[in-house]
Amino acid sequence: MVPTRTLGDGLTVSAVGFGAMVIAPGIYGETSDSESLATLRRALDLGVTFIDTADVYGMGHSERLVGEAVAGRRDEVTIATKFGAGGREGLGRPEYVHQAIDRSLKNLNTDHVDLYYLHRVDPSTPIEVTVGAMAELVQEGKVRHIGLSEAAPDTIARGHEVHPLAAVQTEYSMFSRDPEAAIMPMLRDLGIGFVAYSPLGRGLLGGAIHAETDLPEGDWRRSVPRFQGDNLERNSGTVQALGELAASRGLSVAQLALAWLLHQGPNVVPIPGTRKASNLELNAAAADVELDAGTLARLDELLQPANVAGERGDAGYLARVNI
Ligand code: ATR
Repeated sequence: MVPTRTLGDGLTVSAVGFGAMVIAPGIYGETSDSESLATLRRALDLGVTFIDTADVYGMGHSERLVGEAVAGRRDEVTIATKFGAGGREGLGRPEYVHQAIDRSLKNLNTDHVDLYYLHRVDPSTPIEVTVGAMAELVQEGKVRHIGLSEAAPDTIARGHEVHPLAAVQTEYSMFSRDPEAAIMPMLRDLGIGFVAYSPLGRGLLGGAIHAETDLPEGDWRRSVPRFQGDNLERNSGTVQALGELAASRGLSVAQLALAWLLHQGPNVVPIPGTRKASNLELNAAAADVELDAGTLARLDELLQPANVAGERGDAGYLARVNI
């Protein structure tokens, strides 16, 4: 079974979770609901029981699939979901927070969510007001723990004052290391868990994306600078070097990427997404991988900033993070 880690003041989760964005149709190309359900059930069987979804993934589709997969096994699972995507004004208001949880509970076919996140900070509503409304959901028993996603350090500190945050979720991988500067030290000090989304660099660290044509037409990643032209060529070269190191340790590059994240602190939990049971099995096994000092030092060399080219999102995406 996959080992566990504790987020915040007592939310115990599998050390490797499951990011359920990829099972929503169209975001990363084709999906098959029956395959996604089989993958989710395999996750539970292996002890990957921390399942992370959001109301916006396929407009409820991902939440409904998660609800179906955990039916009859709800007690084994830690369900995280999110509301207020896109940082749109008004989505952090208390009335909306109360509406959103009821819709998610219905989609998930459950009476409570274990971890409820604000997906993006609403620039027009003070964080104290949004977190205050989330705290009401805890009192009502609809939510067990709360968190923020892609919030700036000051926002995290202010929110945590109103109600303890179990986790902050931010993109973090070998290819996206921004949180190391301010957010991670702060979370360690405050005793807040860190959930690393897109821990495989949105698939780049899977080792099979070398050119834009490796992504299906309409795949969202085609809008992301690091998946384009010269940037992608450079990044693919870095992944190749990482793959050689991984192979010399008997690992796949994705497993090396996940193990490296788990070595960044005891409060770090990656949530890789996959549609395939075979990849899920590899990701689950990464939770037991020990990296020696020599491997970690070699990784520091390979992950020099010059070896990672291009931003993690377009200008519109970047405008809605770190608020
Ligand atoms: P996100 O959080 O955006 O889902 P991620 O976890 O960084 O991003 O990456 C998800 C991508 O990595 C998916 O495209 C997934 O492809 P499949 O759905 O086809 O599996 C890919 N991926 C996940 N685990 C993988 C593994 N062990 N090896 C290779 N690719 C993997």
